[in-house]
Amino acid sequence: MTQEQQRRLLAAARRAAGRAHAPYSRFRVGAAVLDERGRVHAGCNVENASYGLTICAERVAVGRMVATGGRRIEAVLVFCDTETPTPPCGACLQVIAELGRNPWVVLSNGLKTERGRLSDFLPRPFRAS
Ligand code: THU
Repeated sequence: MTQEQQRRLLAAARRAAGRAHAPYSRFRVGAAVLDERGRVHAGCNVENASYGLTICAERVAVGRMVATGGRRIEAVLVFCDTETPTPPCGACLQVIAELGRNPWVVLSNGLKTERGRLSDFLPRPFRAS
């Protein structure tokens, strides 16, 4: 992933965080996925009055990638306005594992940025085979 691609991911994730539907937690998350064609797909968390139906920002971004024809995740960036950058939850890591070949995972709060590989966050994803 180039610096320019990472910059585009951050801009898209930050913009999406501003659109989060988070009236219950007030915790706004934005995510952006880079696909195999260099396209960027953004998502935000979408909460629900029935709390368990909440969808994380990362899974919204991945769903948008798949629905618009993207096949493989090259990188995911998560933006959250927290003191230290916030990593994806375990469920989202498993979903990212399904569609990536150990993609980059980048965390940013706008000031600090941490970059690693999916395997740094989820060393042994579930696989049925
Ligand atoms: N959330 C995400 O969007 N991504 C994560 O990886 C973890 C949590 C959202 C879900 C919920 O709307 C809020 O953060 C608080 O848990």
